[in-house]
Amino acid sequence: MNLKILLLPGDGIGAEVTRAAVVVLKAVAAKYGHNLHLTEGLLGGIAIHKTGMPFPEETKKLALEADATLMGAVGLPEFDNAPPSQRPEAGLLGIRAVLDVYANLRPVRTYPSLIDSSPLKNHVVAGTDMLIVRELTGGLYYGTPRGIDADGNAARNTMSYTRPQIERVARRAFELALNRRKKVTSVDKSNVLEVSQFWRKIVVEVSADYPDVTLEHMLVDNAAMQMVLKPTQFDVMLTENTFGDILSDVGGILAGSIGMLPSASLGASKGLYEPVHGSAPDIAGQNKANPLGAIGSVAAMLEYSFGLVKEGSAVNDAVGKVLESGRVTADLRPKGAPATTMEVGEAVSKAL
Ligand code: IPM
Ligand code: MN
Repeated sequence: MNLKILLLPGDGIGAEVTRAAVVVLKAVAAKYGHNLHLTEGLLGGIAIHKTGMPFPEETKKLALEADATLMGAVGLPEFDNAPPSQRPEAGLLGIRAVLDVYANLRPVRTYPSLIDSSPLKNHVVAGTDMLIVRELTGGLYYGTPRGIDADGNAARNTMSYTRPQIERVARRAFELALNRRKKVTSVDKSNVLEVSQFWRKIVVEVSADYPDVTLEHMLVDNAAMQMVLKPTQFDVMLTENTFGDILSDVGGILAGSIGMLPSASLGASKGLYEPVHGSAPDIAGQNKANPLGAIGSVAAMLEYSFGLVKEGSAVNDAVGKVLESGRVTADLRPKGAPATTMEVGEAVSKAL
């Protein structure tokens, strides 16, 4: 099969984790006889430096030409005081919107060999296996009106959702639950927000088409607490954009490190794949970032964009073997000396 993939390494540790993920991608393509066609583009702070724009036209063209995109991370401290539209993050929001990838799948699981990596007690995190389905192209991130008033005295963002926006992501969540433990927890703030009451109503309507799936609702403040109190109660967690952003970082604590979490952003056609972690400028360029979130994102790409389920599982199995071997990066608190980013990438390729 021909795999036409766009790489957007982005900023900070994005470049090094992407490089390690590409080593794995090449190994899996060679093993199963697929032809890789890799192109590389600019997104985020690096794109602002080279072109003046966080999401240049050329990158948009490349993304539309590719079958799937693998992104590293975006964000640089030098843009901390820039307005949102001129920041590296605007590049990521731009490509998510152009590809219309409305469903962001963020699986959170604990591997037995990583149980001590989480600061939470073993009996709490053991057996965690949940999938956060985060709505990705609506809500506060994109809602209007937005901005700071010219007189500098007030500012606003808008959390708005339309019926079709909620229906399509809810449908995805229920479909995914059918192949799991058949439970959907929809997270909202319906005791305060009209948009959440609307969200809840539409989710209930969609659930009628999935009688085999149990639906429950949870307020977002409680959901944050329940995730660290009893994470094993969750199967699929469905939520809107901002809540999903926040709760998935909590997922990093369950998994042992945010560096472990992969993600798949899916829409009608082309997928976008990115680790959940950020650009971590404090450790960039030191070859010590955890590449497993990026490598897990490659596995998700193989499965969701190319239907290569066997290849995707092979990558995940290889990751499992490397975790058991203890060759992990510093964020996972290894017993011996930590491995480097590239060593982990090479170990996963070898385990393949
Ligand atoms: C994430 C990130 C992004 C988001 C940022 C970099 C715009 O935090 O993917 O979770 O908020 O969606
Ligand atoms: Mn985030």
